Amino acid sequence: MDDSRSIRQLIESRKAGWALESRFYTDPEIYQIELDQIIMQNWIFAGHQSDLPAAGDFKVVKVANESAIIVRDQSGSLRAFANVCRHRGSLVCLEAEGNTRKFTCPYHGWTYDNEGHLVAARNMPDDFKAMDFSLHPVSLDIVHGLLFICFSASPPSLEAAKHDLAEPMALFDFENLKVAARKKYPISANWKLALENYNECYHCGPAHPDYAKLHTLMLDDTKIARVQGHMKDKMVMCGLKDIEIDSWKALPPEGEQGYHYSRTALFEGYKTGSRTGEAVAPLLGDLKGYDGGASDMCLGPFSFFLAYSDHVVGYVFTPIDLMHCQCEVYWLVRADAREGVDYDKETLMWLWDTTTYADEKIIVDNWKGVNSRFYEPGRYSHMEEWGQSWVDWLLRELKRAT
Ligand code: FES
Ligand SMILES: [Fe+2]
Repeated sequence: MDDSRSIRQLIESRKAGWALESRFYTDPEIYQIELDQIIMQNWIFAGHQSDLPAAGDFKVVKVANESAIIVRDQSGSLRAFANVCRHRGSLVCLEAEGNTRKFTCPYHGWTYDNEGHLVAARNMPDDFKAMDFSLHPVSLDIVHGLLFICFSASPPSLEAAKHDLAEPMALFDFENLKVAARKKYPISANWKLALENYNECYHCGPAHPDYAKLHTLMLDDTKIARVQGHMKDKMVMCGLKDIEIDSWKALPPEGEQGYHYSRTALFEGYKTGSRTGEAVAPLLGDLKGYDGGASDMCLGPFSFFLAYSDHVVGYVFTPIDLMHCQCEVYWLVRADAREGVDYDKETLMWLWDTTTYADEKIIVDNWKGVNSRFYEPGRYSHMEEWGQSWVDWLLRELKRAT
């Protein structure tokens, strides 16, 4: 369809309660604005501090056309740098992770230390000052053990999130988790379709038979109230608290990163997110038992966490380009849990590996449909209100940028 409307007019003509028009997913100009004004301007989950325990440990994180090195320097602090050489711009580090005292650019050999300082560059003019050519820093912050990066030098504030999420995150001792497994799921679709999908559970019944056996999010309000009541009766005995925090529904204030925390009951008989409903890892933190619930948490627009009583699953969605994105899933257990003794990787991963593959398929089918000449936006169900809040936030940010 020939559409001569400006991006601003397109945003303003969007009907509340209706899905987005196809141009939002297919227009390279809109993607470029999203990249500059949204993706690069918000915090992105990048792992757990326990991933990089020793001086020199590093990992490379890619988001769209950017690449960052996160490294623990010789003094023990975590730092992040743009993985772009200050000579002529080659990627400096080509490995995904490892341990090193120095990063040597493979092109002409400029060498940087763990603090990003240029420490060697051959045959340069006499007036060349190495100190002017350190790697560019990337914003890095640690939220109760979780690493977040932002490619903007003035990222949104995390202070309110850190403060308000401290209590629920302490219940699961997020600070002292470790990454038991992680896996990347490439998705051939525009990145927004993946996030809209994660943010609604209208699809969970039809698309996720395994998930739907234990999670109750797709129940109607009366049934939800009943199962929630059962869980809340058990929560306190298990050492949990009835906490609900949300800065998304009314849209987070500009300049502040939005966040959310709530706990929802699993079906009777399920202790955690596993095939049998039985525990798959030791209880987290100081929990004394299973209340039969799972906590949903998000921090920022791309990063989500599901805290069962014995493990946490982290999800981060990032674009690769206009037509491709990626979901990376982390499975976190308590730091002292032993693989093969206290948990088995495959058993731990089963539910969200199965569910994420199923999500990939429905997102790609959705992408094929929105590219059709017959596509037109449809009405949202009231079960998609979280997805709508996310879209409302996205449109607010896009509008600010146009
Ligand atoms: S581009 Fe890195 S040393 Fe030349
Ligand atoms: Fe899903």
